[in-house]
Amino acid sequence: MADLAPTARLSAPSVARNREPILAVLSPLLPRAARVLEVASGSGEHALFFARQRPDIFWQPTDAAPDARASIAAWAAAEGLSNVAPPLALDAVAPSWPLDAPETMDAVVCINMIHISPWAATEGLMRGAAAALKPGGVLLTYGPYLRAGVATAPSNAAFDADLRRRDPRWGLRQLEDVEACAAAAGLMLARVTDMPANNLCLVFRKATKGRS
Ligand SMILES: C[S@@+](CC[C@H](N)C(=O)[O-])C[C@H]1O[C@@H](n2cnc3c(N)ncnc32)[C@H](O)[C@@H]1O
Repeated sequence: MADLAPTARLSAPSVARNREPILAVLSPLLPRAARVLEVASGSGEHALFFARQRPDIFWQPTDAAPDARASIAAWAAAEGLSNVAPPLALDAVAPSWPLDAPETMDAVVCINMIHISPWAATEGLMRGAAAALKPGGVLLTYGPYLRAGVATAPSNAAFDADLRRRDPRWGLRQLEDVEACAAAAGLMLARVTDMPANNLCLVFRKATKGRS
């Protein structure tokens, strides 16, 4: 099949390094035929990889940026996977997300956005994920975080300084602040997994009905 838009396809070198370790954390959390919403899909390479590895699931990629959405659509067209939906324009900050119905997602995934966006995006992520998830559903976030009582790796300290130089509203977040923000939205931190290159996977769970 002809490649209609090869130049639209973006490639993030970090995806090839982190996609397998993230899948190892994510996949066991997903029931058969799970519905997954990805916030800030970027190039779309995670979406395509995860959907290829788990052909039973439905993957909804999204991003706030038009060039990211063009890249996701171009990758999806090139790979022809039937379980990846066309990308949605979703700004995490928006008070309501462009989804058909609330509480329909088994999982929300957000990779490398929290530190490369203003804090309002994290607040919006937690609010929106809580609304999108079924009771008992999970939010997985991946990226570098600061942790109380844990020395920050020199590479993360340098990355934090660089981010703040680029945009003073960006920067590595304190894990405890992210946890409190999620809890305020009804998502409880259930697991913290150390990942390669001083990153973490955080898994939050929405309460099942009838339980606090
Ligand atoms: C560093 S990239 C990460 C992309 C991809 N998840 C990855 O790991 O390769 C950050 C992404 O966050 C998106 N983003 C930033 N602020 C956002 C917001 N408020 N809502 C949704 N996406 C946002 C950007 O457009 C960009 O695609």
